[in-house]
Amino acid sequence: MSAEGLLKVEGVETYYGNIRALAGVTVHVNRGEIVSLIGANGAGKSTLMMTICGAPQARTGTITFDGTDITKMPTHLIARRRIAQSPEGRRIFPRMTVLENLQMGAGLDNLKYFNEDVEKIFTLFPRLKERQSQRGGTLSGGEQQMLSIGRALMARPKLLLLDEPSLGLAPLIVKGIFEAIRKLNKEEGLTVFLVEQNAFAALKLSDRAYVMVNGQVTMSGTGKELLADPSVRAAYLEGGHH
Ligand SMILES: Nc1ncnc2c1ncn2[C@@H]1O[C@H](COP(=O)(O)OP(=O)(O)OP(=O)(O)O)[C@@H](O)[C@H]1O
Ligand SMILES: [Mg+2]
Repeated sequence: MSAEGLLKVEGVETYYGNIRALAGVTVHVNRGEIVSLIGANGAGKSTLMMTICGAPQARTGTITFDGTDITKMPTHLIARRRIAQSPEGRRIFPRMTVLENLQMGAGLDNLKYFNEDVEKIFTLFPRLKERQSQRGGTLSGGEQQMLSIGRALMARPKLLLLDEPSLGLAPLIVKGIFEAIRKLNKEEGLTVFLVEQNAFAALKLSDRAYVMVNGQVTMSGTGKELLADPSVRAAYLEGGHH
């Protein structure tokens, strides 16, 4: 692995029963990068993200994070190594307030930074500050996405995994969320691995990207290269909003 290598997924296969969802996936994320994974419904994007977090576990191949083999590590120990995830569908706690949701993200290790970290998240997403006493389940879709990212950030991650942060949100809200991700990357040096069906927005934001088809990576390159690639344009960008 290169000196900057933070996450290295090598030849990973993941199964659901007898069905192979990932068929030998290799993906690298270097420190300080924003890397995205694009692909159609059912390609295996979420499965890769979940496999990195250890549930389901890879059946073959290896996943190395920050120099440690995490392939067979239980999920809670992977999280403790500072990989945080905002999963598909956001999965915030609907009956808890915004502040309580953030507390859940912090875990016991980080409680001493709680006030400082909450302030940072409120600066990033002022809307969450206004709504701090409101129950998660009553937030709008965009606010729930902000909360899901905020909760992941409370874990003080070295790597932030985001699964479809733009799903179902209006373009203006998506823009705000992507700007927040860019800001975290530029100002805090946060490394981000992003799964998106909104290929245009993801490629514009990313240093590098991978294309996944049927559980395999079929293409990779810089965000710019993939944006300009005719086959990527035809499959993922035609008719998309710019
Ligand atoms: N828990 C599960 N049990 C069985 N099969 C599953 C399970 N989760 C996902 N799959 C299958 O694995 C394949 C990959 O699914 P996955 O959710 O990773 O795709 P995706 O690229 O994230 O799709 P989307 O863009 O719709 O979120 C699909 O064929 C899906 O039906
Ligand atoms: Mg998915």
